[in-house]
Amino acid sequence: FNWSGNPKKEHLFKVLVIGDLGVGKTSFIKRYVHQFFSVHYRATIGVDFALKVINWDEDTLIRLQLWDIAGQERFGNMTRVYYKEAVAAMIVFDCTRQSTFDAILTWKNDLDSKVLLPNGEPVPCLLLSNKCDEPKDGNLSNPSFLDSFCKQEGFIGWFDTSAKHNINVSESATFLVKHILETT
Ligand code: GTP
Ligand code: MG
Repeated sequence: FNWSGNPKKEHLFKVLVIGDLGVGKTSFIKRYVHQFFSVHYRATIGVDFALKVINWDEDTLIRLQLWDIAGQERFGNMTRVYYKEAVAAMIVFDCTRQSTFDAILTWKNDLDSKVLLPNGEPVPCLLLSNKCDEPKDGNLSNPSFLDSFCKQEGFIGWFDTSAKHNINVSESATFLVKHILETT
C-alpha cells in the first residue's frame, strides 16, 4: 500500500538472459540479485531462475523473473519452452571474444522465431557487452559500431557491463524495465 492507502500496482515480468557459453549471464544475474561475484566458472545446465523484486515507485512493485538460460542450449531443443511468455530479453556477449558477438544474431533469430509479444511484436531485446573490465576484441571497442548494429538488428540499445566490477548492471536492468513499462 502506498502513502494514500491505495494498493500498489504489481507486475510480474519474465525476462530471458541468453547468449553464448561463458559470457557471464549467470554472473550478471548473481551480481544484480545477490550482490555477489565469483571468478569460478560453473556452466549452467538447462535453465536457472532468479527473482528481483523492485520497488519501482510509490505505486508500483515489479517482480522481475530472470530466466538464466545455459549457453549450451543454443545446441539444444528446449528454447521454445523456455522462451514462452517472455516479455523481454537480454542478449549477452563477452567483449573479449568476437565469436560470442558473432553468435548474437543466432540467438536473436532463435528468439524471434519462437516467441512474440501478445500484440504480435517481437520481444524487446537489450544487448549487453559484458566483461568491459577487460581489454576488448577488435570492433567491439567501437561504440558507434554497436550503435548502428543495434539500430539495424532491432535491439532497443546496448550497455557495456561488468558483473565483476558491478558496472551498469542495475542500470541496464532498469533501462529494460522502463522500456517494458512504456510499451505494455
Ligand atoms: P553458461 O552458463 O555456460 O552459459 O555461462 P554464463 O554466461 O552463465 O557465464 P558465467 O556467468 O558462468 O561466467 C563465465 C566466466 O566469466 C566466469 O569465470 C566468471 O567469473 C567470468 N565473468 C563473468 N562476468 C565477468 C565480468 O564482468 N568480468 C570478468 N573479467 N569476468 C567475468
Ligand atoms: Mg550460466
